[in-house]
Amino acid sequence: MRAVAVFPQRHSIEVIDHPAPPASSPTEVRANVLEVGVCGTDREIARFEYGIPPAGNDYLVIGHESLAEVVEVGDAVDGMAPGDLVVTMVRRACGRPDCRPCRAGRQDFCVTGDFIERGIKERHGFMTDQVVDDARFMVKVPGELRAVGVLTEPLTIAQKALDELWRAQDRLPWINADADPGARGRGHRAVVLGAGPVGLLGAMALREAGFETTIYSRSPAPNAKADLAGAIGVRYVSSSDHDLNELVEIAGRPDVIYEAAGVADVAMDVLNVLGPNGVFVFTGVPGPEQAKTLDASALVRQMVLGNQLILGTVNAGRGAYESAVATLGAFHRRWPVEVAALITKRHPLEEAPDLLTAPSHGIKDVVSMNGTS
Ligand SMILES: NC(=O)c1ccc[n+]([C@@H]2O[C@H](COP(=O)([O-])OP(=O)(O)OC[C@H]3O[C@@H](n4cnc5c(N)ncnc54)[C@H](OP(=O)(O)O)[C@@H]3O)[C@@H](O)[C@H]2O)c1
Ligand SMILES: [Zn+2]
Ligand SMILES: [Zn+2]
Repeated sequence: MRAVAVFPQRHSIEVIDHPAPPASSPTEVRANVLEVGVCGTDREIARFEYGIPPAGNDYLVIGHESLAEVVEVGDAVDGMAPGDLVVTMVRRACGRPDCRPCRAGRQDFCVTGDFIERGIKERHGFMTDQVVDDARFMVKVPGELRAVGVLTEPLTIAQKALDELWRAQDRLPWINADADPGARGRGHRAVVLGAGPVGLLGAMALREAGFETTIYSRSPAPNAKADLAGAIGVRYVSSSDHDLNELVEIAGRPDVIYEAAGVADVAMDVLNVLGPNGVFVFTGVPGPEQAKTLDASALVRQMVLGNQLILGTVNAGRGAYESAVATLGAFHRRWPVEVAALITKRHPLEEAPDLLTAPSHGIKDVVSMNGTS
């Protein structure tokens, strides 16, 4: 099988011949990989800053955002058949008896840090011809989402964040967490920091949930990301043209801030404009070099007197994958052109090493295993 492998020790990225995975248990599924999305984590791995090969291997097959077509199912697998489209989950439990989240099937909340992640940490990923995994780590995707299903994994970030948000806002008796999903955010404002794939998918999810949504991001408008935002009814305000006071004048004080820029200084500045009873959701992962001196007493005062909440979120559980598939379907029905436009370009596998090492431009690059470009 062809695969894109990262060799951390000899600092190379190569298309290699990789043995086909054996399907060894009746609960396993074999699927042909159709598409693999590329994100910042992959680029970090390709710079050899992150990424750990499986034990006994000198390389890691990269890729964790996938869409595949089932070709074989084990005898004990229910509800999955050849021809079905599937997305395979990324994280696996740490296996430590003292890790309650992993034992409860919520390895996205793992407390030991010893979890395994396909394509990232200690298990091969999906940028290869075939994938085999246990059916409980595969989520079905309807055929109508063939062109955008590869966005499921990045959308799980927003999906988990929204799940957490609604649980948290259950504390506010006038918010009806059981309302129609498109109505829960109605009458509330959201600001999304950053207009990369994580920010844009977050903005779509917040908009779909009924929020009046504004993206606050660096590049001056007009630009392709601002146009895409406009087309889904999301306001775009550039931090190059407008300071925070102007953001508040334009967008109002937000009830939710969804941070997806990965820049700590900017995030802490924007936290200052969070509205009363508001929730600040961190999804970005800043580099270690960034530092900021905070006016800690002002921040604590604001948070206490404003009943505010800050939450961070990483990875996602099976429930978030299933709801991300449903949400992607809703996006596809409502904004078919815009969702498809999140995928900037499809590249053949042979181009993946160059793609992974080149600076990213556009929104989401995808490697297409059947060579469609
Ligand atoms: N929590 C999780 O599970 C999870 C999973 C995957 C990724 N992430 C993290 O999520 C973050 C976003 O990922 P991504 O792939 O969407 O990243 P990305 O493509 O790099 O997008 C970052 C966005 O932030 C904007 N930005 C950068 N610096 C800014 C500044 N100083 N002020 C305002 N906007 C600024 C960029 O503006 P331009 O458009 O002008 O470049 C861009 O739109 C990353 O930190 C990533 O590590 C988290
Ligand atoms: Zn990713
Ligand atoms: Zn664990």
